[in-house]
Amino acid sequence: MSNTNIAVLGAQWGDEGKGKIVDMLTPHFSTVARYQGGHNAGHTVYVKGAKFVLHLIPSGILHPGVTCVIGNGVVVDPQALFKEIDELARMGIDVDGRLRISEKAHVILPYHRELDVLSEARRGERKIGTTSRGIGPAYEDKVGRRGIRVCDLLGDRDALADEVRENVSARNRIIKDSTLDWKPVFDQLIGYGERMRDWVTDVSLFLHETMKEGKGVMFEGAQATLLDIDHGTYPFVTSSNASVGGVCTGLGVPPKAIGGVLGVAKAYTTRVGEGPLPTELSGELADRLRESGQEYGASTGRPRRCGWFDAVVVRYSARINGLDAVALTKLDVLDGLSEIRICTGYKTSAGTITEFPADLRPLSSAEPVYETLPGWSSPTKGVTQFDALPAEARRYIRRLEEASGVDCAIISTGSDRSETIVKRGSVVEQWLAD
Ligand code: GDP
Ligand code: IMO
Ligand code: MG
Repeated sequence: MSNTNIAVLGAQWGDEGKGKIVDMLTPHFSTVARYQGGHNAGHTVYVKGAKFVLHLIPSGILHPGVTCVIGNGVVVDPQALFKEIDELARMGIDVDGRLRISEKAHVILPYHRELDVLSEARRGERKIGTTSRGIGPAYEDKVGRRGIRVCDLLGDRDALADEVRENVSARNRIIKDSTLDWKPVFDQLIGYGERMRDWVTDVSLFLHETMKEGKGVMFEGAQATLLDIDHGTYPFVTSSNASVGGVCTGLGVPPKAIGGVLGVAKAYTTRVGEGPLPTELSGELADRLRESGQEYGASTGRPRRCGWFDAVVVRYSARINGLDAVALTKLDVLDGLSEIRICTGYKTSAGTITEFPADLRPLSSAEPVYETLPGWSSPTKGVTQFDALPAEARRYIRRLEEASGVDCAIISTGSDRSETIVKRGSVVEQWLAD
């Protein structure tokens, strides 16, 4: 059991394989805690051929005895939560006694979903391509100081009734010709509160005590650095801090509690939804990556946009998050390609840039600067030792490391837990040995 607390988070645009990496590292930790996002996340984990897709519940839940925490920074749709819990129960996973939900987490209400869809429709061509889960509107209410928190569902009923009445009438003013009645919403919330009651916890205190006992905690990110509300490709982002700062605010833990940061990055790049993707491919090559990588959204089923590995992006993520190491996933998807490219900069009308810009406009006409490396013909699929990888694959990884400035301590060569390389002498090996 590790006594180093580590954060595992997305270094690109999401769907890097965080779920798989968190699941395979979980046996070394007592607790896995989600710090932001909501059920817009879709973290897929395969265990001996059985597929689990986790949305709100941390990806540590598949290991018996591990406590899973949903932090205050997460927005919780109770309906989605119960659906996920019921689905896990059907697959033989019992969350009772192992799940804790922050009393300060904000609740996604049914009309947040409607507002999400409406806001996208109003943006028209400028739409974000959200997951339509009501994430943005729920965070808007939180920041607007009119949100409803988990503790409100269990507190004074008159106060909750006032809040719901106020919120529903505000919503009715936004949605034309709408006359939603507040009372059924209120009744539903009371029911949700009762079902959650036993799990509701002072999460900051719980984590503080766990860490004081020397039991390691893993902080699990959803979405990714380039989807972060502050550091991502704004406005084509999600509405929370997916990067490492979110750990502290989203769980009530101090920065010093974070002993290590692991960024998860694919051996290429994908993105779902709108917004810039400088290395995006089209045609046969894009289809090839999409099909062999099964690049379809775990939450919405949307095809993911695919492109080459972008070292500018991962270097940027390394800086923002202070990455100690990268877990490089889906190396096997590149098996059989004759050539592989790495982007090291963008050629814009104002010259070549090598740092990710705040203003996205130059990116729309930017040309990626590529290095081309030879591919490999023998498969990496299922390889568990670095030295057993084809020489060209090792060379590709080494070049990625140089260009992004971070060591790839973990290399994933398939979706199963066992299809993983932990590099000897890496920082991850040290964390796990602590
Ligand atoms: P997350 O949101 O970051 O947890 O990632 P997703 O679960 O949305 O998407 C990653 C997908 O890639 C999942 O279907 C995983 O099962 C799969 N996956 C993860 N690692 C590997 C790998 O090394 N090779 C292959 N082929 N698939 C992988
Ligand atoms: P995981 O945790 C990939 C994207 C959406 C959209 C933008 C805003 O599985 O990596 P939102 O519904 O959050 O308001 O949508 O963010 N997005 C994700 N893309 N992986 C995710 O989660 C995502 N969660 C949201 O596609 O572009
Ligand atoms: Mg996902």
